[in-house]
Amino acid sequence: MDKQVTKIGVLTSGGDSPGMNAAVRAVVRTGIYYGMEIFGIMRGYSGMIENDIVPMHSRSVANIIQRGGTILKTARCKEFFGYEGRKKAHSNLKKLGINGLVIVGGDGSFRGAHQFSEEFDIPCIGLPGTIDKDIAGTDFTIGFDTAVNTAVEAIDKIRDTADAHDRLFIIEVMGRDAGYIALHSGIATGAENILIPERKTDIEELISSLQEKEKRKKLVNLVVVAEGDNFGGSDEVAKVVKQRLPNVDTRVCVLGHIQRGGSPSCLDRVIASRMGYSAVECLMEGRFNVMVGILNNKMHFTPLEKAVKAKQKIGDEWMKIVKILAS
Ligand code: F6P
Repeated sequence: MDKQVTKIGVLTSGGDSPGMNAAVRAVVRTGIYYGMEIFGIMRGYSGMIENDIVPMHSRSVANIIQRGGTILKTARCKEFFGYEGRKKAHSNLKKLGINGLVIVGGDGSFRGAHQFSEEFDIPCIGLPGTIDKDIAGTDFTIGFDTAVNTAVEAIDKIRDTADAHDRLFIIEVMGRDAGYIALHSGIATGAENILIPERKTDIEELISSLQEKEKRKKLVNLVVVAEGDNFGGSDEVAKVVKQRLPNVDTRVCVLGHIQRGGSPSCLDRVIASRMGYSAVECLMEGRFNVMVGILNNKMHFTPLEKAVKAKQKIGDEWMKIVKILAS
C-alpha cells in the first residue's frame, strides 16, 4: 500500500464510550489542518453499507468535546461480517474517493477493519474506544476513565445508605468479558469482594469471607460484580448469599448503562484528542493498519492484526490487593 491518503472517513462503532466525540473532533480538525477532506460515516459500518456518509468541516465538530455519546452515532453491524456487506461498503467509499479510514471502537470493530483493509486495500487506523478497557497495546481506552468514575460516584452513594442500614450490597457494573470497571471501581470504593470474568467465581470463598465478617460484626459490605462474571452476575450471586446468610440484610443494585453516558473526563478528552491527531499522522506517514494506543505516555502502534488477538490480562497481584485492603 504505497499511496497518499487524501480523503479520510471517520466512524464510531460498537458500544459508545465517553470521549468518542473528542476523538472525532481531533481527526476532523487534524485532517483539515493537513489539507485533507474528511467524511463522517454514520452508525458505524452500517453507514458505510447504506452510504450514509457526510462531509465534515471544522464547524461540524464545534461544541462536542464535552459531550458523551457520539455525534456520528454507532451500531454493531452484522452485515459487515459478510463479504457482500463489505463489498457494498467499499463501493460507496470508492464513489466518494475515500482512501483512508479511522475507526473508533473496540476489538470487534477492529476485526472488521482488519478484514476490510486486507480485502480492499484501504488503510485503516483503529482508536480504542470502549469503556471496558479490554484492549492490549494501550494503557487507556477512550471512555474507561469516565465510566469508572461514574461507577465510583454511584458506589460511594450506595455505601452511604448501606452504612445507614448496616446492609450488604451486591453491585453490578458493566463488563461482559472484562473486569476492569469492577476491579478499579471496587478498589477505589473499598469493596470487600470483587468478582470478574477473568477469574472463576468461587462462591464458597465469597460466602465464607462474608460469614467471617458477619461473625466479627462487620455489617456493611460491598460486593462489586462485573456483569460477565461466570457465576451469572449480581442476581445469581445474591440468590446464594441470601440463602446462605439469611440474617444479613442484602440488596442488589445494577448500575447499567449510566456508566456509558455522561460528559467525558479530562483524561478521556485528552487521550481521545491525542489519539485522533495521531491517527491522521499515521495515515499521512504511511503507517497503515495499526491501532493507536498510549503506553507509558507515548504513542504506541499495534498492528490491527495483533490488536484483535491480544487481550489485556489481569494479574494475580490485583486480587491480592483487594483481599488485603478490604479486611
Ligand atoms: O461497550 C461495552 C459494553 O458496555 C459492555 O461492558 C457491555 O456488556 C455491553 O457493552 C452492553 O452492550 P449493549 O449496550 O449493546 O447492551
